[in-house]
Amino acid sequence: MTPDLTTLAANSARLPTCPSWSALQQHAARLSRIPLTSLLDQPGRFETCSREADPLLLDFSRQRVTPEVLAALAELARERELPAWIELLFSGARVNQTEGRAALHMALRDPSTTPLRVEGEDVREAVRAEREKMLALARSLREGRLEGATGQPLTQIVNIGIGGSDLGPVMASQALANWRLPGMDLHFVSNIDGGELGLLLERLDPARTLFIICSKSFTTQETQLNAAAARRWLAECLGETAVARHFVAVSVNAAAMDEFGIAPEARFRLWDWVGGRYSMWSPIGLSLAIGLGEEAFGDLLAGANEMDVHFRSAPLADNLPVLLGLLGVWNQNHLGTTSHVVLPYDGRLARFPAYLQQLEMESNGKGVTRDGQPLDWTSGTVLWGEAGSNSQHSFFQLLHQGTSRFSLDFIAPVESSSPFPDQHRAGLANMLAQAETFARGFSDEEMDAGIDPALVPHKRHPGGHPSSILLLQRLDPRSLGALVALYEHKVFVQSVIWGINPFDQWGVERGKQLARTMAAALDPDHEVPADAPPIVRRLRL
Ligand code: F6P
Repeated sequence: MTPDLTTLAANSARLPTCPSWSALQQHAARLSRIPLTSLLDQPGRFETCSREADPLLLDFSRQRVTPEVLAALAELARERELPAWIELLFSGARVNQTEGRAALHMALRDPSTTPLRVEGEDVREAVRAEREKMLALARSLREGRLEGATGQPLTQIVNIGIGGSDLGPVMASQALANWRLPGMDLHFVSNIDGGELGLLLERLDPARTLFIICSKSFTTQETQLNAAAARRWLAECLGETAVARHFVAVSVNAAAMDEFGIAPEARFRLWDWVGGRYSMWSPIGLSLAIGLGEEAFGDLLAGANEMDVHFRSAPLADNLPVLLGLLGVWNQNHLGTTSHVVLPYDGRLARFPAYLQQLEMESNGKGVTRDGQPLDWTSGTVLWGEAGSNSQHSFFQLLHQGTSRFSLDFIAPVESSSPFPDQHRAGLANMLAQAETFARGFSDEEMDAGIDPALVPHKRHPGGHPSSILLLQRLDPRSLGALVALYEHKVFVQSVIWGINPFDQWGVERGKQLARTMAAALDPDHEVPADAPPIVRRLRL
């Protein structure tokens, strides 16, 4: 029988006492003295250090691992009771214990009809009904049947949201641009300052514009300000009564949607058991469903569901999210890397690092165990990145010859889906060249004979930087779904190892509170409060 949440959480406080943790420390002490090249050149290295879960392949041969390290990492996962945690997650238990919520984003892409009850409601039925409603709206928009207040079809779609209510749809609509159906323009507005909204409104025709307000809470300041400004603009252009025909919303907050004037049939539900950063599969993905159409959106969900099935059923040693998570723990906690760089070698995945930043850092940026004890091991990974080839010409110099310690994920599709297959091959060649250079470095012996000795230290690349290569068969909806779900589960795996709750985000609240105080201090109609920071006076000039 699967242990319950309380029992599992109580065990999560004891990471350094796990026998495998000490074994890993000993392996790390030994392996950090060995050149990565000597591991990489071992016969059969790729076969030992690669795993496939169609449509993805993970090559971790350039990681500083041996079969013994891999065995110790799998043992660590067992000692941290990862299989039991995975079952608990999928069962709908309240794994987000500080908010008393389940984390059932997998249910959003699960075609099963076997009832799954949360708070007395069958999640399967609720998800199905909401998806039908959202796909119906997307269909009527694409068929030109949804008209605005002046009788013109709505073709300019503006998603207003931030964080999890923005990053997933933005990232996926860019990544899947080849699958976008003609006829609909998608726009995304997120930042608070109004600059991007102002520029966008100048280009939009109000009579053809539909705003989607995506906000789980419907209280997020950025979204509230942008939505209110868009509402004013629309009412000024078309009159107050037009609002109901030009706005739809996705939220759990019915009262706030009432107040805004969202028509009852224009509301889409979210549930407390969907975290913002795990929500692109829900009606938060409405803009995607509109842009991609039913089939491609369905393939995105199907790819994610395939990864869910793999995560739940594959043995630990062959399980892609488990391996990715454990390799991250190994690099950070045992080999001393201090950040993780994600490099998609396909420009269409340029927003994927930004998407992962919220997913990984908002989830695992925690300093206490599930029962509130300070951690005495590092948790959460500083993640950053950029499209591969661009990054070679910006920050790779520091990576190759600076003093930082980091790990990397290279990501690329095997097949080209651009009209320029030669360029696709050139991208792959660059990716391989970089992965090799990070692992092997560039030694004095490899330099040209007769080189000025004074230049040798300046040209040397130390190498030894661990990396993985993740291949997608093609950059298509199914592969993208699998890729995103892979990282979602990687985050969960790491949270279990580190003993933290990946599903809350209390660390963003204090700043939000103080922003209200600062807004009052900047208000030109009031005196500057005596306790305001001195720079406030400069900002009021
Ligand atoms: O950044 C904090 C956060 O609460 C995220 O977790 C969330 O994705 C984002 O703000 C937006 O929240 P909402 O969808 O409630 O507007």
